[in-house]
Amino acid sequence: MDDLPFPMPDRPRRNRRSAAMRALVRETRLHPSDFVWPVFVVEGEGERQPVEAMPGVERYSIDVLVEEARAAFDLGIPAVALFPALTDDLKDPLATESTRPDGLLQRAVRRLKLALPEMLVITDVAMDPYSSDGHDGLLRDGQILNDETLPILAAMAVAQAEAGADMVAPSDMMDGRVGYLRDALDDAGHEQVGILSYAVKYASALYGPFRRALDSAPRGGDKKTYQMDPANRAEAMREVDADVREGADMVMVKPALAYLDVIADVRQAVDLPVAAYHVSGEYAMVKAAAEKGWLDADAVMAECLLSIKRAGATVIFTYAAREVAATLS
Ligand code: PBG
Repeated sequence: MDDLPFPMPDRPRRNRRSAAMRALVRETRLHPSDFVWPVFVVEGEGERQPVEAMPGVERYSIDVLVEEARAAFDLGIPAVALFPALTDDLKDPLATESTRPDGLLQRAVRRLKLALPEMLVITDVAMDPYSSDGHDGLLRDGQILNDETLPILAAMAVAQAEAGADMVAPSDMMDGRVGYLRDALDDAGHEQVGILSYAVKYASALYGPFRRALDSAPRGGDKKTYQMDPANRAEAMREVDADVREGADMVMVKPALAYLDVIADVRQAVDLPVAAYHVSGEYAMVKAAAEKGWLDADAVMAECLLSIKRAGATVIFTYAAREVAATLS
């Protein structure tokens, strides 16, 4: 003891002495209003199809979706993000199904907005769930055609807006799509429909369970000519700058946990709300380890989401939105 310096230069433990003290000095808090709950939609009535690689996640038919979304809204979750799971017979190279006013997604949006007008509905703009090639853009001769994809995405976004979507969320990573969508939405009279851009979306292996849930994996090749290289941090700013200039209302980084540095960079660089997507693989890893009894899923999930918020995300897309929101209230 005699060799301790006195007085002790600093005692950070004083601020951790009790639960009340820790609560007083806590810098970051999760709240149900931070969350967007992504949901998979299927045809049918009373359908709940468990997604094998995502324990606790089910694909819902529209009637079930409405009830589940109501429960989420009652927990304080302000928004759902919808992803349609289509059968192969509805998929084609042009993603034609994506623009039909009575397509599955459009019907789901309409029913949700009718039942829960105050809950926000965010729709995904990309060709993959509707494409027989499983790519986000138009595939021809082994190439993803950028500029030819834009009108398809625009028609999709307008169809979603007509159905009542509050925000459209382009996740396709084509160049120039935010400006193109903004123009198309404005021309169609939807200047109040927002664009949440998946500005910084990496070619990640963590999307595996999602692609299985929608059967939307690329039928050939990979997405590396449009999604970003996981090795790149500076390049994220270039994507964000472009989307801000083109009129995005929010910008997203995806995935989240392996890219917290990028979330922090984007937070510093822009004054728009920053979203982060805690993706299917990130969710599945926690659930799988918990099933083995190796970790406490609730605690780890909350810690992961907290770290995403601490890094700088204002909006967090997570499949765990409801279970975590329930523990917060
Ligand atoms: C498709 C899209 C993907 C996700 C959201 N929109 C998959 C992909 O790009 O292949 C992934 C979400 C997740 O893994 O939870 N445009």
